Amino acid sequence: MSDPTRPAGPKIIAVANQKGGVGKTTTTINLGAALTELGLHVLIVDLDPQGNASTGLGIEPDDREFTTYELLLEDIDLGDVIQGTGVDRLKLIPATVDLSSADIELMSNEKRSFLLHDALRQTGIDQYDFDYILIDCPPSLNLLTVNAMVAAHSVLVPLQSEFFALEGLSQLMLTIREVRQTANPMLRIEGVVLTMYDARNNLSQQVEADARSNLGDLVFSAVIPRNVRVSEAPSYAQPVLSYDTTSKGALAYRALARELVRKNAKIAA
Ligand SMILES: Nc1ncnc2c1ncn2[C@@H]1O[C@H](COP(=O)(O)OP(=O)(O)OP(=O)(O)O)[C@@H](O)[C@H]1O
Ligand SMILES: [Mg+2]
Repeated sequence: MSDPTRPAGPKIIAVANQKGGVGKTTTTINLGAALTELGLHVLIVDLDPQGNASTGLGIEPDDREFTTYELLLEDIDLGDVIQGTGVDRLKLIPATVDLSSADIELMSNEKRSFLLHDALRQTGIDQYDFDYILIDCPPSLNLLTVNAMVAAHSVLVPLQSEFFALEGLSQLMLTIREVRQTANPMLRIEGVVLTMYDARNNLSQQVEADARSNLGDLVFSAVIPRNVRVSEAPSYAQPVLSYDTTSKGALAYRALARELVRKNAKIAA
């Protein structure tokens, strides 16, 4: 029987913002973990040479035998790169610093923008029954991020609640438009999520007001507060959801997951 809370086939979401340190990796890990708590099966693709999503989920560099680098540039089966994590139903394709040269190596490849798209559509993926695939992008609009946008159904944009937050968005939107025109006409914007929000800070409130007036419904109702437990969790190799399950950060990521699932159920209906 079909479950209305599950999209048909894996829904692929690129978590992107070329601005550094805005909460892309934190959102990828914790939204992923929150979706698994709803019983969903999730794959995180670490597409950042910094490998922060891999480290944050406790996969040490020595345990990253096959990575997104091999997935993109070598003929490797998905089964060889997908690893388990400490979280039930959450799998990972890790990354290492090797990926930093991929951007240049990809240039000479005729299918350079479609490599992740094709890799994630290998027939072997069906056996995992993933509901969501979340791609953690690097802080750049380079060929890696373009690969994520070509592979994805939608882009989720973490927006740090601070001055200049909205300024980088026009460049990001331009890239999304280019990808739509050239490679992925169906690419949607999943939404914008405010991160590191400090309710006592006027600036946070101003950024939220600006984002909601400029972007309307694209901004998720769920807002992620600045919460020290969120920033501590990766050093314990855990999502905040298990590190401190009742923390404000954990509650906020659960609210975001529920909102995402609701939105997608509506689209499917
Ligand atoms: N809600 C939060 N509360 C407190 N600290 C946070 C929160 N979200 C993220 N951080 C911290 O902010 C820093 C940047 O977050 P994160 O690594 O997720 O950003 P990023 O966009 O992935 O960065 P990069 O662009 O380098 O990949 C990290 O140290 C993280 O622990
Ligand atoms: Mg990151």
